[in-house]
Amino acid sequence: MFDPDDLSSNPRVNSNTPLIGDLIESRLSRRAVLSGMLSAAGMLAASRLSFAADKRQNRFTFQEISRGSDETHHVPQGYTTDILLKWGDHLFDESAPEFDPFNQTEAEQLKRFGYNNDYIGFVQLDKNRGLLCVNHEYTSTPLMFSGIQDGFPKTIRLEHVMVELAALGGSVVELKRDGDRWKPAIGSHYNRRITAHKTPMQITGPAAGHERLKTSADPSGTIASGTFNNCAGGITPWGTWLMAEENFNLHFLGQLPEEHMEAASHKRYGLDHTRFAWGAFVDRYNVEKEPREPNRFGWIVEVDPKDPTSTPKKRTALGRFKHEGAETVMAPDGRVVLYMGDDQRFDYVYKFVTKHAYIADKPDPDLLDEGTLYVAKFGEDGYVDWLPVQHGHGPLIKDNGFDSQADVLIETRRAADLLGATPMDRPEDVQPHQESGRAWVMLTNNHKRTAGQVNVANPRPFNAYGHIIEIVEPNGDFAATRSRWEILVQCGNPMNRPVQTTWNKATSDNGWFGSPDNGAVDPIGRLWVATDGNQYTGGADGLWAMETDGERRGTGKAFFRAPVGAEVCGPQFTPDGRTLFLSIQHPGDGKGATFEEPTSRWPDFRKDHPPRPSVIAIRQENGKLIGS
Ligand code: FEO
Ligand code: CA
Ligand code: CA
Ligand code: CA
Repeated sequence: MFDPDDLSSNPRVNSNTPLIGDLIESRLSRRAVLSGMLSAAGMLAASRLSFAADKRQNRFTFQEISRGSDETHHVPQGYTTDILLKWGDHLFDESAPEFDPFNQTEAEQLKRFGYNNDYIGFVQLDKNRGLLCVNHEYTSTPLMFSGIQDGFPKTIRLEHVMVELAALGGSVVELKRDGDRWKPAIGSHYNRRITAHKTPMQITGPAAGHERLKTSADPSGTIASGTFNNCAGGITPWGTWLMAEENFNLHFLGQLPEEHMEAASHKRYGLDHTRFAWGAFVDRYNVEKEPREPNRFGWIVEVDPKDPTSTPKKRTALGRFKHEGAETVMAPDGRVVLYMGDDQRFDYVYKFVTKHAYIADKPDPDLLDEGTLYVAKFGEDGYVDWLPVQHGHGPLIKDNGFDSQADVLIETRRAADLLGATPMDRPEDVQPHQESGRAWVMLTNNHKRTAGQVNVANPRPFNAYGHIIEIVEPNGDFAATRSRWEILVQCGNPMNRPVQTTWNKATSDNGWFGSPDNGAVDPIGRLWVATDGNQYTGGADGLWAMETDGERRGTGKAFFRAPVGAEVCGPQFTPDGRTLFLSIQHPGDGKGATFEEPTSRWPDFRKDHPPRPSVIAIRQENGKLIGS
């Protein structure tokens, strides 16, 4: 979700008097840039694990597509696209009537594919069957319903809100292989809708049952009624689906008096008070009626897609913030490591290391309830220190208002502020790669960073195009608390010199991009980057191949272009690398775009019908590996 108005709520940078540590850090970083300390390209080459992915046979050989923007999508020559699942497709009955956008009801939407698909996970069942796990991030009321004018609540009714709640959350859909194609199995017993209001979820881990999670509907503080704003995510080694609750702050109306014990915390999480209409109709979204309800959002939700009757679990040990994703890898000792971004200007990068090792023969279904959450502090020495967000550690004590680990987790952001974590340029997906011991951090953009606020890991003021940081874990030990890092690329137009991009010279005029959002690694270890906001460079959002090794390191190459208004998310490859699933989110959007007047009616192009966010599947017509 690209939101140019998404302001920082980090008091360390909003204040006119930055912390002394920040000032020193920014001075050092400017000096470092000037003296060329950071230009030591390949500084980490020796410490990267040797990995065969960059070798000649794995190079991207597809024919690059051209930059541009129009009402439809584009793939390279020799590739084909199947529209797999569209908003409104019925998941449970093949003979159900076609989606009718003029007659939407909550009951219908509960049975149909949700809105604004984001993360895509793929859990293969056997050679010919798999489960697609798709997040539905947010709703665009004026694009979803006919007759909505700007400025709620003039034209928004309870019926609209209930459809929106039913259109959020996620979908599990079984796919079956038909020759070279994957097709949805409508009516499969695996198919499931998870929603914002009708899917009970257990709250687990150190904050479960805490006073600050109790509401009038749930005096136990352990059962939440759903999930929303699920952005990116992950699939665990044991085949569960992690859904990251991101911009929950936009959905709560009302304002608490300053002296209320939750007021400062709500402010740190950027509760919006005005954006969505839900709180005008449903009490739980009105903080004046349910002041603790927001504390039950901003978590990572774990779902077992193989059991459609299973209760999803909100894993509080993983912290509470505007979670973008939760990709997992394994440390050499078998502990599981998750990388996570907090997507707001000047917020932080985290990782979580489980306490116990994953045992494939006897997996612990609650492995994510115990472990250590760390926040990243990037140093000018080329190391990142992972600081434990742990009660009793440093400033995380009673004197600072943290009575327990539950308090620390409920207010993860404030805890990380006090620890001195590095304020970043909107951390989106953090994509680790098991075999090479690396993780790539997508920092989408931050045009609010001033020259006085740069730091070594975020060196550009007015960073409108974002950058990608590469973290290298020592000897592939993802559980390490001290890792190496460097900037893989500073994005934007390389011809625009003041922007100071760092693309490899081999990058063509189609190959550069801005606003990296979701990363994916294909089965032979190559990085791919999807964008959200590249449209502000004059071209559409899309998917780019990204060289990370050898002489072409830092080269982008354009693979896919979305229809106008859309961002691209959820890049996900099948394990054989021959099918690529992409989420096309908010097609036809744009300033003032509505149901009646969208910027595109993709993918149906039916006169009078709105655009439909959809999941697509891309494959080569010759059946070969994607990208080669
Ligand atoms: Fe939902 Fe951070 O993108
Ligand atoms: Ca985004
Ligand atoms: Ca995103
Ligand atoms: Ca990813």
